[in-house]
This record gives sequence, structure tokens and C-alpha cells, in this order.
Amino acid sequence: MNQQPKLTIDFAGLEIPPGNYALPTLPDLRAYAFGGDGERALDDDYQRIERHFMGDLALSELEADDVRFLRAHFGEQVTEQRGQALDYFEAKVPRRFAAAHPDEQATAWAEQFAADRHAVKSLLLIGPTGVGKTHCAWSVLRAVAESGTQLRWQMHTAADLYAHLRPRDGEDSHNTFQRVADAHLLVLDDLGASKWTEWVEEITYRLINHRYEECLPSVFTSNLPPAKLRDALGERVASRLTEMCDRIVLKGDDRRKGGVA
Ligand SMILES: Nc1ncnc2c1ncn2[C@@H]1O[C@H](COP(=O)(O)OP(=O)(O)OP(=O)(O)O)[C@@H](O)[C@H]1O
Ligand SMILES: [Mg+2]
Repeated sequence: MNQQPKLTIDFAGLEIPPGNYALPTLPDLRAYAFGGDGERALDDDYQRIERHFMGDLALSELEADDVRFLRAHFGEQVTEQRGQALDYFEAKVPRRFAAAHPDEQATAWAEQFAADRHAVKSLLLIGPTGVGKTHCAWSVLRAVAESGTQLRWQMHTAADLYAHLRPRDGEDSHNTFQRVADAHLLVLDDLGASKWTEWVEEITYRLINHRYEECLPSVFTSNLPPAKLRDALGERVASRLTEMCDRIVLKGDDRRKGGVA
């Protein structure tokens, strides 16, 4: 069973993040059921499973053992992918935020993202300097890695991204822009903190408008209060952010002053 057209695997029912997985074979099923006893016939069971893949049988119409087998089969691959995603995360996370672990809210968001990236709302984390916005954004990325999703993320401070995208002689920043704009998940840290020029305004608009139009999720952080953010980014960007994002307000003192870190 390789590469069938139009498979209808009920990943939500299996509690497996949607993705591209190797499908189970009849020997896989035998190995699962009988520890590799090749003599035992499981053709009927395997056919039921195939019929589920082809959309002829709902998950609820399969035997409990079939469902257990599918969970185990795909779950093994999720575990492997989770390991790879966490390795990638550990390689990217700055030392200071390496211990940023997700709370329930971050984990729930990551699970929604893994289940349907076009349906999850973006996040706008706001709060004063030092309250923990960047820490929180990294904790969301750890949660994404822990979810076992195959989806990929990018994290940039807005200032670094602008520096990266600024046109230079002989270099085509268009491809770079497109890669960032199309990221499965984009985290843009410190929005509104950079010097506002016409170029910054245009690139910010193009980026956010692209993600808005394509329903691609992002996590934005800013230390500007909403009214100032609106002034800083302009009406059109602010209006899109309002529609795209759930706003999370972080409150408290500057943790840097408290010697927390
Ligand atoms: N929940 C937390 N638990 C422990 N340490 C935290 C937590 N949140 C933030 N910190 C620490 O507090 C410091 C400030 O956090 P962070 O850099 O995330 O703040 P920020 O809101 O992004 O600030 P800025 O607006 O200046 O970018 C860092 O050293 C960070 O590791
Ligand atoms: Mg920050």
C-alpha cells in the first residue's frame, strides 16, 4: 500500500497530528498482532483498515483492535518526528530561552496548530519590557515541537528580519521574503520596535497581508500598548492583526530588574 490517491485517514479520531506517514502493511499488522507470526491470516482485518483509508469505513466502524493498531503504527512515527522536531528546536533556541517550557495555554495552541494550521488563530503577545513575551514565544515553539507535527516554524526579531530582507546589490531578497511569508508558523518578535521608514512599512504590510490572506498562523510580540501599536504599524496592518490574532496581555514587573534570570 504505497501512494494511494485520496486517502481519508481519520487522524483527528486517532489523535495523531495530520501529516505524511508511511502506511501500514499486512506484515506490520501481523507483527503487531502476533509478534511476527507470518502464518496467521489477518486479511479481513487488513481489508477493513484499507477500506477506512479509502473512505468506505469510518473509524467508528473499525474493530477496537484495528484502531489500536493504527494508533500504535502512526504513534511510533509521531514519536520519531517529535524527537527530530525537538532536536531542531534545541539547535535553534537561544541559551536564555532554552528553559522556556510551555504552559497549558501554549500546549493547547500548539495542538490546534498541529491539527489544522489554517484554522488556528494567530497570537499577539503584548506587555511591557521584560515581562516575558519572548520567553513565552519560545515556549510556544517548544510546544509545537513536542506536538510531533511535521510543520515547520521560523522565528525572527522584526529588526533582524528587516536587516535580512533589505535589498543588497546582486542579491535577490524576493526568495527570502517568500520563504518567511510562507512559513507554516512565523514568530515575529518585537513588532513595532524598529525605526519606521517607508520601506519597513511596505515590507511589514506585504508580510502580514500575505499571512492574513493565506490564513497562515503567526505569533507576534510587541511591547507597545494597542493604541501605540496601531500608530506604529498603521491602520491597515493593525486592522489585519486585530482580525487574525488572539491578544494575550502579559502583566507584571520587568523580570530583568528582579534578577529572575
Ligand atoms: N515565565 C518565566 N519564567 C522564568 N523566567 C522568565 C519567564 N518569563 C521571562 N523570563 C525571563 O525574564 C527575562 C525577560 O524575559 P523576555 O526577554 O521574554 O521579556 P520580553 O517581554 O520579551 O522583554 P522585551 O520587551 O524587552 O523584549 C528573561 O531573562 C527571561 O528568561
Ligand atoms: Mg522580547
